[in-house]
Amino acid sequence: MTFKRLDEVLPFFGMDFEGIVEQVNKETNKQAEEIMANTNTYKGIYAMHKYWGKKPFNEISKFIEKYTMPGEVVLDSFCGSGVTLIEALKANRRCIGVDLNPLAIKLAKVSMTAVDIDEVNRQFKVITKKLKATINSLYEFEYDGEPTLVTHTIWKNDMPIEVWYSTNQSKKKIREGIDVDITMSQHPLVEAKWYPTSQMFENSRINVGQNQTVADLFTPRALVGLSLINDEIKNIEDPNIRDVFKLTLTGTLSQASNLVFVIRGRKRNEGAAPKAEVGSWVIGYWVPEEHFEINVWNCFENRFKRIIKGEKEINELFSNRENGYYENNVRLINGSATHLQLANDSVDYVFIDPPHANRILYLEQSLMWNAWLGLDKTINWNDEVIVSEAKQRKEKNAKNYNQLLDEAFAEISRVLKPGKYFSMAFNCLDDNTWIDTLNLFITHGFEITDIVPLEYSATSVIQDNRKNALKTDFVLTFKNTNNRGQESTIFKNDDLQLEADIKTILSEHPEYEVYNVMNALFERTIPQGFIYKVSRIVKVCADNMS
Ligand SMILES: C[S@@+](CC[C@H](N)C(=O)[O-])C[C@H]1O[C@@H](n2cnc3c(N)ncnc32)[C@H](O)[C@@H]1O
Repeated sequence: MTFKRLDEVLPFFGMDFEGIVEQVNKETNKQAEEIMANTNTYKGIYAMHKYWGKKPFNEISKFIEKYTMPGEVVLDSFCGSGVTLIEALKANRRCIGVDLNPLAIKLAKVSMTAVDIDEVNRQFKVITKKLKATINSLYEFEYDGEPTLVTHTIWKNDMPIEVWYSTNQSKKKIREGIDVDITMSQHPLVEAKWYPTSQMFENSRINVGQNQTVADLFTPRALVGLSLINDEIKNIEDPNIRDVFKLTLTGTLSQASNLVFVIRGRKRNEGAAPKAEVGSWVIGYWVPEEHFEINVWNCFENRFKRIIKGEKEINELFSNRENGYYENNVRLINGSATHLQLANDSVDYVFIDPPHANRILYLEQSLMWNAWLGLDKTINWNDEVIVSEAKQRKEKNAKNYNQLLDEAFAEISRVLKPGKYFSMAFNCLDDNTWIDTLNLFITHGFEITDIVPLEYSATSVIQDNRKNALKTDFVLTFKNTNNRGQESTIFKNDDLQLEADIKTILSEHPEYEVYNVMNALFERTIPQGFIYKVSRIVKVCADNMS
């Protein structure tokens, strides 16, 4: 499976990339590279639930194979949805995952636990029998002399402007919105069960306004449907199967919310309204000016289909393992990478992909999920390695970010066995980020081993394919020497020397690409206490490579 650029993938799914970028930028004042779309690029286990910043699993498995033997322990102390752990378990390694985000830990656990699929399907039938008719009744009324079921409502400035519905004869009909649509959505006749009203952090960067709550992301009708499902899931006795359904619910939330934007085709006949298509949750908590409200039962049923596909893959992978394979091989900790509850020298390999400054606000953006699971009250916001502009998180600045990342590196150096390897996914932005990151490794006693470009992750929008240009996603691998407290490396600005060094390297290895040259240079110069600026390396390489 290859990972493609968003602009290659979206048209394939009938989506117009430029149109989306334009629309999002206009309404949110954001840059294209901040956009994250759920592109369906992932399949099976990895398509069960959205998570921010998932890494390409096939790439990660190569590192696990290269740096570990079967039975050895792989740690990811920023494990997110658990891609590293799943790949480690698949390759018969043991794994330890740590993440501050309760949703991430639950997702990782479900993704590695084989459950009885017949029982999952049976539970879905129970929920269907109990709730489908009630939830659909929130969308049913007589229109034009026949019973109709509303599947999608397009709202613009709080008015229903277009409604898609089905009848006994037809699967999809379209009409204009009417007053009944407002009444049914705003004043549903069924009473809601519990739903979260947790306050969100005000943060214009992810479009969260003052005093906004999680409930504000949904219509009252959607809250009724979702709260009924949530209440019913509590009756499932088997905790593993209950977790599968909890994730089905959280996986349903975004499509059932007001965050689903309307894709308008660009081409249209004169006078005719451009055709609308269903978009997805694109960015932060942006409620688009024109957005969908989708029938909650449909959203839940569709999500369940994806979850079942994932469950089938999980069963194929793990159901024939020995009893207790999970308990013996997997350890998940909802805690902080800065305080690992692990013994010294107990890990054989570390692969991490920590948050990149303010790029994706993991905990803030996961609040919708955690709040519905009732897990938001226990979140340890203070230890999040992040830069946030949220008004109530003023302390989450670059200094705090660097300090926490430093603590996380100290912990890795403590728990990783001497002579073993530590890889980190890294998104290079500029020279300063490069030197700061290299110094994190160096000062914690790690020795540079290898730097390789990572193939596109599904969410990387901006990539540079020009010859000799440096891609932005890398994996940096270092060896644990336990030689802590080494001097930081510094920049050396000597273009003449740099050019001479590059010429020497290229004459010995004419086949080298930019990143090979960079590796060779780092290996030579770091022991001497300096590095050349990466931007200069790229420039001089471009000038000297044919
Ligand atoms: C880039 S994501 C990891 C994504 C993961 N590689 C995947 O494939 O899903 C970074 C993760 O770091 C977590 N995180 C942030 N601060 C943390 C901390 N102090 N300790 C543990 N995890 C933390 C976030 O919750 C987020 O899940």
